[in-house]
Amino acid sequence: MSSVQCNNLLQWYGKNARKLPWRETTDPYRIWISEIMLQQTQVKTVLPHYSNWFEKFPDTAALASASMDELLKSWEGLGYYRRARFIHQAARKIISEHGGTFPEAFDAIMALPGIGRSTAGAIASFSFGQPTPVLDGNVKRVLKRWHNRPAVTDKQLWAWAQDEINGSANPAGWNQAMMELGATICSSRSPNCSLCPVSHNCKAAFQPVEANAAKKIPVKHLHWQVTLHTCPTRGVWLTRRPDSGIWGRLWTPPITELKSTPDTPACHIHQLTHRKLHLYGSVADVSPAGDGQWVSNFDSIALPTGIHRLLEKHGVHYG
Ligand code: ADE
Repeated sequence: MSSVQCNNLLQWYGKNARKLPWRETTDPYRIWISEIMLQQTQVKTVLPHYSNWFEKFPDTAALASASMDELLKSWEGLGYYRRARFIHQAARKIISEHGGTFPEAFDAIMALPGIGRSTAGAIASFSFGQPTPVLDGNVKRVLKRWHNRPAVTDKQLWAWAQDEINGSANPAGWNQAMMELGATICSSRSPNCSLCPVSHNCKAAFQPVEANAAKKIPVKHLHWQVTLHTCPTRGVWLTRRPDSGIWGRLWTPPITELKSTPDTPACHIHQLTHRKLHLYGSVADVSPAGDGQWVSNFDSIALPTGIHRLLEKHGVHYG
């Protein structure tokens, strides 16, 4: 992109960017948390969690000394709970290997759990001004359209992104502007080329949207029986989910996967990115067995949002 085009993009960003709290800081701790939250969760969902987070965990030391359950509780509602586990591990690594100071070297940032090349690029550019590109889904789409190369490899995309950022006087601004352009103007299904500040530079501008942009990944349906043991004095019986897989390490009533679709409608349907969980609550008439605990207060225990909804529908409310 020529320097004129680059200026157009940065100017457009300056005038049109959404005001978001992580754009008002260069503190690597705050940037890191925002980028992890934003990896798989929409801006509007992240916003309320983001401000609450720093009241509970003002710095890396607070995070490192918190329990995994405290972190999972604060992550409740954001989904993809593996990210909370990575944050915990990374905080401990920052304390043990970097004396509690967030590392500045790109390779050291990338060596932290949960941080890939694109997230490291975001942190290094926003916090330290390094010319390291972000290449998330939005930026990839923008670059593919500029070059009108819908099937290009990631290797080539990284090379283009690096060239662009090397030619920009403002790496942080460039990354933010590219993400903003992808999120607001150069959308997957209906890019708004007439409002685009760099349409003159774009080989796909005003062309029909590429066929695979609209291609949908099929949703997988899972049918889960959720067994509710409740007791007026002790609460509800919860077990911990396995470390990996859906809702890893969170607390739920015992869940059994059903092999066939029941005739009765699900009590609650919970949508994940590529999966739909059909939850069937069934009230147990025997005592619970195996590992678990009775819980009558949810203040410090993390349950998936889908389970909260199912319990509400069954009239189970605690804490
Ligand atoms: N998605 C990932 N990083 C982001 C950022 N810094 N601003 C807005 N959306 C994002």
